[in-house]
Amino acid sequence: MNILSTNGLLDFSLLEEITKKPPLFSKDDGNFWQDPYISEHLLNAHLDDESDQGSRKYQDILQSVLWLSKYLNLPEDSKLLDLGCGPGLYSENFYGQGFDVTGIDISQNSIDYASEQAAEFQYRIHYICQNYLEINYQQEFDVITLIYGDLCVLSHNDRNLLLRKVQKALKPGGFLIFDVFTKHYFDRKESDQSWYISTKDGFWREEEHLLLQSHFKYKKDKVRLDRYHQILKDGSIRTHNIWQHYFSLNRTITMMEENGFQIKNYWSNLQGESYKETSPWIGMIAQKN
Ligand SMILES: C[S@@+](CC[C@H](N)C(=O)[O-])C[C@H]1O[C@@H](n2cnc3c(N)ncnc32)[C@H](O)[C@@H]1O
Repeated sequence: MNILSTNGLLDFSLLEEITKKPPLFSKDDGNFWQDPYISEHLLNAHLDDESDQGSRKYQDILQSVLWLSKYLNLPEDSKLLDLGCGPGLYSENFYGQGFDVTGIDISQNSIDYASEQAAEFQYRIHYICQNYLEINYQQEFDVITLIYGDLCVLSHNDRNLLLRKVQKALKPGGFLIFDVFTKHYFDRKESDQSWYISTKDGFWREEEHLLLQSHFKYKKDKVRLDRYHQILKDGSIRTHNIWQHYFSLNRTITMMEENGFQIKNYWSNLQGESYKETSPWIGMIAQKN
């Protein structure tokens, strides 16, 4: 797509078209988790302890792992699979609490970083670069984690596929630890449309570009879209859509029960803070039936 028409003038009708609310789940220009340039910037975001953008801050992760480990109280060397492990921030801490950890992530950059850390500090953690929708384990793990809203960014079909695969991968009575955001997660989000000029080495592109960002709500479907158009000097446009499902407590419980889990407990976060109606997150432990 190009914002310049053949006579070299700005195509306002295309500009108007791309800034309108798109149909639910319309396609974009590809999986940004695997884009080599963006995933490098995502890795920096994961490791930036000043921001919660890629991962939570280190102290929160540590508190969460300490609390969850104590809560579960499983024997040493229980097998834990960390899905969407990123650079291994949760994996390393669970390893530190005595779990036998496998981490899976689709980003080669993140897996390379996590593996280098493990080699340097002699952590016996097994990292695999893989799409977690393609895992095929049978009753191997005592615990599986999906932390920092991974279930929220998947389509309905992919979410159910993943939950079925997780169910299969857990030993009988095994636990799934996960968190999802509620509608209150978006209460303090920025205005509907904004823009900025990125001169170089921006988050999305290395080249100078104009970034148009828009946010849309699809209330009936309980979905929000964060949409990012990058417009380059030559007028070419690249678009990334981030679809985010939000969940009520009832919807989360139903989803888990429909996929063969019973609810062990839930909180406002994965540090054991009591659940409140206004909480931006639901943290939950579900147990395989
Ligand atoms: C929001 S980050 C959370 C990372 C980590 N759990 C943490 O909290 O530090 C989501 C992670 O899931 C990974 N991811 C996204 N889709 C994936 C997929 N289909 N298969 C495997 N990993 C995926 C991304 O590369 C990213 O590292």
